[in-house]
Amino acid sequence: MTNVPVSVAVCGLGEWGPNLLRNLLQNELCHVTALCDRDKARATEYARIHNIKSVYDSVDHVALDPYVNAVILATPAGFHEEQVRTLLDAGKDVLVEKPLALTLDGARDLVKLARAKDRILMPGHTFLFNSVVRRVKRELNAGTLGKLNLILAQRMSLGRVREDCNALWNLAPHDISILLYWLDMMPVTVTARGIAFHEGYKQEDIALCILEFPGTIASVQVSWMNPVKVRQMTLVGSQRMLIYDDVSRDRPLTLYDQRIEEVPRVHGKGTMEEFELRARRGAETSITVEQREPLAEEVSHFLYCVDSREQPLCGGDQALRVMSVLEACQRSLRNGGQAMTPEPV
Ligand SMILES: NC(=O)c1ccc[n+]([C@@H]2O[C@H](COP(=O)([O-])OP(=O)(O)OC[C@H]3O[C@@H](n4cnc5c(N)ncnc54)[C@H](O)[C@@H]3O)[C@@H](O)[C@H]2O)c1
Repeated sequence: MTNVPVSVAVCGLGEWGPNLLRNLLQNELCHVTALCDRDKARATEYARIHNIKSVYDSVDHVALDPYVNAVILATPAGFHEEQVRTLLDAGKDVLVEKPLALTLDGARDLVKLARAKDRILMPGHTFLFNSVVRRVKRELNAGTLGKLNLILAQRMSLGRVREDCNALWNLAPHDISILLYWLDMMPVTVTARGIAFHEGYKQEDIALCILEFPGTIASVQVSWMNPVKVRQMTLVGSQRMLIYDDVSRDRPLTLYDQRIEEVPRVHGKGTMEEFELRARRGAETSITVEQREPLAEEVSHFLYCVDSREQPLCGGDQALRVMSVLEACQRSLRNGGQAMTPEPV
């Protein structure tokens, strides 16, 4: 570790970029020295407010800035692959918002290039830095739920409608990155259906995916056509159940001591036919988890990796595994819901 602040540029100051900028400005591990947005007036205004020296309207110009070591990209998904390549080629370390690219091959090329150039490349899988998501992982490792049978993931709200990718690529990277982190394995097959409701627009507004893991099944529902914001993951184990509700401020994680169990029928004689399945309802416990803003953790992790040259938790093969599952879902979506196997990475 050098502990010399990293010189950083932020590209894309639309809805999400300013959140990254705010966290970077509060982080002692870096100096923000440049801003970039195709809409230069936007970047100029943020630069004026925060007294940032250089302003650009193209990532190509950021790539040429010798004072910039690392770049945070929050531009639309359709630009990621090309812009990340330009920045890696120029020797910059890159934190790129999800999705890393819009094809698995594109992502593979980027990971290969980052390795060849010895650069840090990290996709913004923000939820891996969420303390509730990490707490769930600890509960799974401790066996609190018994055998994990099912995970239902829902990420739905009204808007924001994207034009360069569908709801699957826009929203599901989060759920898929969480699932792979929790389960620490790849699904064997995936099936997905999607619906593009608006004539003339080819992007699916809703995607419904089933991911079959050895011993566990997961469903992922994503939509930008839902009346209310839902970000919930339900985990059903043989012994207990958990609900992670990312929208709830006061109760993000609840453990349910309930299950379906096999019990002798009343008046039974003890033979197999004399058993039945019955719901056992038990206590409901809200688990308190101390939370820091996940984006602050994500940015700190990236800056730590830039300084120490350690590989990020969600870079390299981890990033490609998420892309591989996304792409398998996309193939299924475009083939009427046929089962697909994610490619090995
Ligand atoms: N991690 C998360 O939870 C999270 C949340 C929201 C968005 N995102 C991601 O952040 C990225 C940006 O999303 P957004 O909602 O801010 O989009 P946005 O459209 O609001 O903002 C994009 C910005 O990039 C600028 N831009 C467009 N093309 C450019 C180019 N070629 N070069 C430079 N600047 C360009 C636009 O002018 C705009 O200011 C997307 O990849 C999205 O998936 C992540």
